[in-house]
Amino acid sequence: MKFFVDTALIDEIVELNDTGMLDGVTTNPSLIAKSGRDFKQVIAEICKIIAGPVSAEVAATDFAGMVAEGEVLAKIADNVVIKVPLTYDGLKACRHFTGAGIKTNVTLCFSANQALLAAKVGATYISPFIGRLDDTNIDGMELIADIRTIYDNYGFATQILAASIRGANHVSDAALSGADVATIPPGVLRKLYDHPLTDKGLAAFVKDWASTGQSIL
Ligand code: G3P
Repeated sequence: MKFFVDTALIDEIVELNDTGMLDGVTTNPSLIAKSGRDFKQVIAEICKIIAGPVSAEVAATDFAGMVAEGEVLAKIADNVVIKVPLTYDGLKACRHFTGAGIKTNVTLCFSANQALLAAKVGATYISPFIGRLDDTNIDGMELIADIRTIYDNYGFATQILAASIRGANHVSDAALSGADVATIPPGVLRKLYDHPLTDKGLAAFVKDWASTGQSIL
């Protein structure tokens, strides 16, 4: 499973990239607003840090506007992925970019039918929002599993990018459900390695090692 980090904060991306765990980055207008920085500048900086895919979302909601904006964003770097919303115009824009050889991420997906349409227009990634579905009492993970089944039934190459991840369990559950990628907020990524039994076990090893009086170096 590939790991993308869901943030527009450069410091976080640099730090997490150093661990070798990162395969890419996703951003959205809310994350750009939170960064307080210039959108295109931030995307250019991220693309210099990360060799993998970097999702940059269009702001327009009409087909012509999405195409015009996406073409500007795609020129920033070769690894930019154009993120479009799962609307009628967004799907048309996705088809346009796919036809032009530009990678796409279709976002704000909340149903299996929406995911089916994204695959039909050749999306590189489909982003089902797990957490936001859970918020409405619908099991977001079931959607991931349904999309996996549908894509496998027909051999669609679109990659399932589990988004709106809120906790560590979402990551392992998305992996079990067959997601190709998880885009994870930095705080959740750091929680993936935490386990109280690891901490307890390590404390015991450190204490017992000290009692031997030995040194490896
Ligand atoms: O990038 C889209 C997605 O991950 C947003 O997550 O927590 O705002 O629902 P959230």
